[in-house]
Amino acid sequence: DKGGHRHFMAKEIAEQPTVLADAISRYLPAGADDIVLPEAIDFTAIDRLTMVACGTAFYACNVAKYWFEQLARLPVEIDVASEFRYREPPVPKGTAALFVSQSGETADTLAALRYCAGKADRILSVVNVPESSISRESDLALPIHAGVEIGVASTKAFTCQLLVLALLALEAARQRGEITAGELQDRLEDVRALPGLLNQALTIGDPVERLSRDLAEARDILFLGRGAMYPLALEGALKLKEISYIHAEGYASGELKHGPIALVDDHVPVIVMAPRDALFEKTISNMQEVMARGGRILLVSDAKGIKSAGDGVWRTIQMPDVSAFLAPILYAIPAQLLAYHTAVAKGTDVDQPRNLAKSVTVE
Ligand code: F6R
Repeated sequence: DKGGHRHFMAKEIAEQPTVLADAISRYLPAGADDIVLPEAIDFTAIDRLTMVACGTAFYACNVAKYWFEQLARLPVEIDVASEFRYREPPVPKGTAALFVSQSGETADTLAALRYCAGKADRILSVVNVPESSISRESDLALPIHAGVEIGVASTKAFTCQLLVLALLALEAARQRGEITAGELQDRLEDVRALPGLLNQALTIGDPVERLSRDLAEARDILFLGRGAMYPLALEGALKLKEISYIHAEGYASGELKHGPIALVDDHVPVIVMAPRDALFEKTISNMQEVMARGGRILLVSDAKGIKSAGDGVWRTIQMPDVSAFLAPILYAIPAQLLAYHTAVAKGTDVDQPRNLAKSVTVE
């Protein structure tokens, strides 16, 4: 049942405020001041976190690395499962291993988990399907409560993975004494405000639909982001290529001049995911480099960011203001909608893209 939507993907994008609100209520019950986990994790007993996943779930790990390192000062290693499992990396004492998977059945992720069993101090997982192999074989599985995801391109599972990882990073920060009680409450307030912000962010659907008709003409599209928005650039590019078959790449904004800028001309739209944060000025100079070469910038930012970017930007998408902490969750919406509307404009099979399976149970 597509609930009145044209595709499951559209339904699953639109469901995010409700689904996130449900997930928040499981981990942050109304009236509680603390994060409630299904079982305790002692973050003072571990020195490092190794996070492993594939595809979009791996990009959720990329975002979470910023959170765990910045908020909890916990060193994080991340890798894609297909590389991790054959690299056979050392797993030092004091390592917790965390696997992120919507299906809980991804062959490479499961093999990476089995490699860590008996080596890591604790095997954790963040999964959508509670009865899955990855869930069962973990010491502690944290459900994301996204509900069934049918569209092959992952949408609501990604934002729910991010939510659970954000709360886990805050819990780690609290236990490790890296955050004051007051700061923690402020962050939890940010989390409680997320469903409302997601609802507001979804109103960009119409403008995105209009500009996606132009994007659908492009052969190549670049996505740029800095800090925790860099993984969002990767996610935006993955979503777009998966369902619209347009070649897209995500880069860290600062990497542009180390090679990718050679691709820029007036045929290559460059999508910049940049809320006005501490790194925004640096992103502006990257945009100027693109514009000086005739590149067309689509800036996804908040009102202040769009204002300070000035003239010369090709198109803008205005997002609600959001804390730097949770911007990666909110900016998943434009990443998803840009891919969705571009694919619809091209007339591709959005829910069942060619060559892809929902659950990759063979390597
Ligand atoms: C992208 C997508 C894939 C999955 C990847 C991992 O839209 O859906 O990249 O994220 O195959 O799948 P899970 O999370 O089931 O392990």
